[in-house]
Amino acid sequence: MAKKAIAPARTIAGTVEFPGDKSISHRYAILAALATGPSEIRNYSSAADCRSTLDCLRRLGVEAELRGNVARIRGVGLAGLKASRRTLDAGNSGTSMRLLAGVLAGQAFSSKLSGDSSLRCRPMRRVFEPLLRMGAEIHAREGEFAPFEIRGGALKAIEYEMPVASAQVKSAILLAGLYAPGWTTVREPVRTRDHLELALREFGAEIRRAEGSVGVQGGARLEGRGLEVPGDLSAAVFFLGAALILPGSSLLLHDVGLNPTRTAVLDLLISMGAPLHLASVRMRDGELVGDLAVRHAPLTGGVISGEAVALMIDELPMLAALGPYTEQGIEIRNAQELRVKESDRIAALAEGLRRMGAQVEEFADGLRVAGRAAGKLRGATLDPRGDHRIAMALAVAALGAEGPSVLRDAGCVGVSFPEFFPALERVLER
Ligand code: S3P
Repeated sequence: MAKKAIAPARTIAGTVEFPGDKSISHRYAILAALATGPSEIRNYSSAADCRSTLDCLRRLGVEAELRGNVARIRGVGLAGLKASRRTLDAGNSGTSMRLLAGVLAGQAFSSKLSGDSSLRCRPMRRVFEPLLRMGAEIHAREGEFAPFEIRGGALKAIEYEMPVASAQVKSAILLAGLYAPGWTTVREPVRTRDHLELALREFGAEIRRAEGSVGVQGGARLEGRGLEVPGDLSAAVFFLGAALILPGSSLLLHDVGLNPTRTAVLDLLISMGAPLHLASVRMRDGELVGDLAVRHAPLTGGVISGEAVALMIDELPMLAALGPYTEQGIEIRNAQELRVKESDRIAALAEGLRRMGAQVEEFADGLRVAGRAAGKLRGATLDPRGDHRIAMALAVAALGAEGPSVLRDAGCVGVSFPEFFPALERVLER
């Protein structure tokens, strides 16, 4: 899909289903591969990123098939992976690359990893640092970028204090920790998403958690099993955004993941005046899931900074794009991490929102998007810079603008949510 025309909409109403959570799908696939025996993962994410993980696992000798949204994986056990002659291609997926680096650090053979042009520019030293300390050998382009070659073997357990809050780095260390005798412990500055910890328990590993840290015992015997992935809350947030932009809207977001390390965005929206209601909340395979109802209401807006940033890192594009529809606007600070995501998200948001006429001030660590008083957005030609979350955030902002917009390279939404546009069309009223 090259370009997509986006007509303004009046309202959005109905029930929406979401693809399986991207973060959880990667983790279930990797643990299923390292387990003994077969696993069946229902509602596996349709995201291109999660297909990249399955492709890499196949290259490492794992039988993995995806039919519809059911992934069936025949685990080879912790010691059963085989060297791939070809470079493992993580595509656009930072999670595939960083988590697999953790697994490959535990292998006595050498592997090469690469990805697309965006992924080849993203910082990898943060994951190399702890893996080198554990005993892996890594040769990377300029010491810090993909492509890189990684070889491991006799790893040693470490206690690692993470300088940046990153669930991907934490997960890479814990996965490598499966290959190191004793306890590998990670301390994190802010509690990041804990899907790997929960999944490790589901697959039978021993996990030790304390305030600010988590540890895994090496040599665990993981057992294959059946699991179901909750709907992706980070995808659902774009529909929440649309409902909060378009007056008269009312949506039911069905079966979404409500893991408390992911729901800070809901607390924030509620504090800004969003009427959100949870129903049918339950635990499934160690994860909290439920239905989320939202109605339109005017939002106050406000500032997002400090620890909140790490807790809603993937939701910041949508929150910034809500700015022009709020009373006070939205200001995001301490979010320099946004500059090293799939694109420089601060620059991409500032450019896209300004093109629609928003008043945006850009800072090194964030941006301030002026509220309603600065005027209504106008339709424009928008460039998401190949970044799925920028594409969806700008598309949603364009729904409330005056006049049609054109979104370039709209197919990039497939990285996390291939069904985004058809799902949106089903519930939009014009
Ligand atoms: C993810 C962690 C976050 C997030 C990314 C998915 C994960 O990245 O932005 O989309 O699945 O672990 P960081 O670990 O870089 O913060």
